[in-house]
Amino acid sequence: MSSIPTVKLNTGAEIPLIGLGTWQSDKGKVRDAVLYALTETPIRHIDAAYVYLNEEEVGQGIAAAIATGKVKRSDIFVTTKVFPAFHNRVQESLDASLKNLGLDYVDLLLIHWPIGFNPKGNNPLFPKTAEGKADLDPTFSVAATWKQFEAVQKTGKAKAIGVSNFSTPVLKELLDSGVEIVPAANQIESHPLLPGEEINAFSKAHGIVVEAYSPLGSTGAPLLENPVIEELATKYKVPPATILISWHVNKGRVVLPKSVTPSRIKTNAEWIKLEDEDIVTLDKLSEKFGTKRIVKPDWGVDLKFPDWKQ
Ligand code: A2P
Repeated sequence: MSSIPTVKLNTGAEIPLIGLGTWQSDKGKVRDAVLYALTETPIRHIDAAYVYLNEEEVGQGIAAAIATGKVKRSDIFVTTKVFPAFHNRVQESLDASLKNLGLDYVDLLLIHWPIGFNPKGNNPLFPKTAEGKADLDPTFSVAATWKQFEAVQKTGKAKAIGVSNFSTPVLKELLDSGVEIVPAANQIESHPLLPGEEINAFSKAHGIVVEAYSPLGSTGAPLLENPVIEELATKYKVPPATILISWHVNKGRVVLPKSVTPSRIKTNAEWIKLEDEDIVTLDKLSEKFGTKRIVKPDWGVDLKFPDWKQ
């Protein structure tokens, strides 16, 4: 289908269910990818992060798209994220991202990971201990970082606030800390080999929209070669990526395929209505092929996802 549905966040704002991922989108390519998505496809949602180190180009793509007159800022949903080294400098991180992006607000700001790095470590983003491990800040607490998020939402520079890479126990810990604002979204790795039933159900029960990153299996899109995905693609006469993207859309989840290739960005803006039995097949794919988490950086912290193995 050529129009992309939206769902309501707990702020009342609408978030488009398909967005363009920009993690690992190289400089020199991502400006044009964003411009293409916003002007040549129905995609109106761009997912960025400070740590991707390409926000300036993402912003140039947004500006170029607006300059064509085909889209307005208010038509576009932009997300960015606060990396663990900024856990106690949320406003500073947001301001730096806004400057990079050339925007005066983002539609959604996320805690990138539920951990804190030493803000005065030997590297501004990835500080390391003498042993070469992640230099964690023992004073970090999700509740304290969240309080800063609540404060920046009130400035209007972040229209909604949420989290990323939060497992059920970590999200529960945050909610139990007595939040004033419930997170609007939880962005997690999600695809049929990592269905995350528990976190999806918990998020939904609290009105938290789930956003799926690495929906194709990340670099090289390995899930596209799964024989069941290929079979379904043949059945519906669509590219395999459309099956993986449609699974999320049919379930009312946001999906964030990353591509810098125009033809793929166009493909990834398409979705189809799947039959119930095929949704069940996708729900159960990990029972057949095993659970596979692809993005699992070794931060030296137990993030409490049931499947997380280093
Ligand atoms: P590229 O950016 O070079 O087009 P994920 O969204 O799971 O992180 O997957 C991203 C990877 O999948 C990238 O390597 C991207 O390559 C590739 N990719 C994105 N869309 C498609 C598609 N429709 N068909 C094949 N590969 C794709």
